[in-house]
Amino acid sequence: MAANESPPRSIKSFVQRAGRITPAQKRALETHWRSWGIDFRPGPVELPAGFDALNLEIGIGNGDALVEMAARDPRSLYLGIEVHLPGVGRCLNLIEAQGLDNVRLIRHDAIEVLEQMIGPASLDRVLLFFPDPWPKKRHHKRRIVNRHFRDLVCGALKPGGEFHAATDWQEYAEWIAAEFLGDARFVNRGDAEGYCATPAYRPRTRFERRGLALGHPVRDLVFAKK
Ligand SMILES: C[S@@+](CC[C@H](N)C(=O)[O-])C[C@H]1O[C@@H](n2cnc3c(N)ncnc32)[C@H](O)[C@@H]1O
Repeated sequence: MAANESPPRSIKSFVQRAGRITPAQKRALETHWRSWGIDFRPGPVELPAGFDALNLEIGIGNGDALVEMAARDPRSLYLGIEVHLPGVGRCLNLIEAQGLDNVRLIRHDAIEVLEQMIGPASLDRVLLFFPDPWPKKRHHKRRIVNRHFRDLVCGALKPGGEFHAATDWQEYAEWIAAEFLGDARFVNRGDAEGYCATPAYRPRTRFERRGLALGHPVRDLVFAKK
């Protein structure tokens, strides 16, 4: 599949794994979801007012990066989306432990959240750190970055807002660059290949450490909406 094609909606960028949930994660979901979680439902998401910026991270994993960015930037609201329940539980514990009030979580497919809950031109940043690379060719259709994703991101960003992806999978970096470089609605913040220096606000993530241990170079790609 070429990068600019979009697969049928039934093809998801994740596989729901049962995943072991620890007692602490289970308790966090029972106790803290009501404070920081937002249930998926079609219609514009209701978020607290009074923040300078709204940043969305897709596929937060355990939420380490989301929580670190939110702790360093208390005037911005950070909305994290993840389907993996143990990761959401872990993130709730981190939010509580750090006493943050500028993080909200949605446990649902990010594509459907972008389609149905995020208003037009409402986001300052869309962050996609170490998305599943789906390396086998027959799985490329599962990659979250495709034409439909690019359109959703474009619609959701404010003018001047940025899409920022990071990956340790070189061929996926090229795929993402190919997807965004030719789109006249975006300005490339990187070099001719689409790569830029890691922005100072991006923490190092668990999957990044794993990639680096395997000797993979890490690529950051930032595209601003005109
Ligand atoms: C390789 S992990 C990276 C996690 C984290 N960003 C990091 O760097 O450590 C990719 C994550 O994206 C999540 N994910 C994939 N597709 C998703 C989707 N459509 N909606 C929400 N989460 C998704 C997966 O469940 C997984 O936790």
